Amino acid sequence: MIQEVGLVTKQLDGNALKQVILDELTTTVDQLFTKYQKRPGLAVVLVGDNPASQAYVGMKKSACKRIGVESFEHLLPEDVGQEALMAVIQQLNQDDQVHGILVQLPLPSGYDEQAIIELIDPSKDVDGFHPINVGRLLSGLPTIRSCTPYGVCELLSYYKIETEGKHVVIVGRSNIVGKPLAAMLVQKETPGNATVTICHSRSKQLKELTTQADILVAAIGQPGFITEDMVKEGAVVIDVGINRVSDPNAQRGYRLVGDVEYESVAPRSSAITPVPGGVGPLTIAMLMKNTVAMFRRSLDVPAV
Ligand code: GUN
Repeated sequence: MIQEVGLVTKQLDGNALKQVILDELTTTVDQLFTKYQKRPGLAVVLVGDNPASQAYVGMKKSACKRIGVESFEHLLPEDVGQEALMAVIQQLNQDDQVHGILVQLPLPSGYDEQAIIELIDPSKDVDGFHPINVGRLLSGLPTIRSCTPYGVCELLSYYKIETEGKHVVIVGRSNIVGKPLAAMLVQKETPGNATVTICHSRSKQLKELTTQADILVAAIGQPGFITEDMVKEGAVVIDVGINRVSDPNAQRGYRLVGDVEYESVAPRSSAITPVPGGVGPLTIAMLMKNTVAMFRRSLDVPAV
């Protein structure tokens, strides 16, 4: 599963781990169905017609189908309005068949995103974005973990990449990736116990910070932002970016690239995630894991 790409660099295969996780979840969902005659339900709400968001929603739907989770899609027009969107969330909060609610972000301009996040019942907040769940994470209490940073942690565990005592430098301070990942890796747990630095667009001497990283995480949303000179020899490089860049030679007219300039950085690193096929598939896998965990909680069946 670990592919050699160069003399020493290992490619961390997110698709392979996704399959392992989804296989396990399929068995769990089958067993729970046999016992309780109920299935987990995930509601996905998409406002507008952003093509990337539509693609993600499609992937989420097929992952649900693959593991036997019911999916409820709410595809709303861009001009649906804040109040109507809030009414949809309130209705999903009340719906016993729905165990997880995901509102695809970003919402189109004009929406109060935070008000929507805070309206979701924290026990159905499958993204872990509600301030109650964010606060629980920071406090080291059991909670739902945001899917992308949770996926990064799973990838590090699966490939037995030690984090204890290591310097993890995260480039990007978003609520979706940078901040929750820092909160996870600093906890007294495994993976965790890391020294964590978050840098961002206003950080000075960025290169001096990134070259200190034993594990460098790029989550800034800029294609090829991390170049060879920003990476310490032998570092582990985790690329969270998924950027569409136009490519007239590609069938769809674009190709996906990460935040890391892969070709130059890979030979310097001891392990690296590709884009696509690295962290991206794990976001979906962890969404499924969270949905099943919330379903178990609703049945009062403890996590295994
Ligand atoms: N947009 C990009 N990543 C995510 C995510 O993990 N959850 C939601 N809801 N929207 C996103």
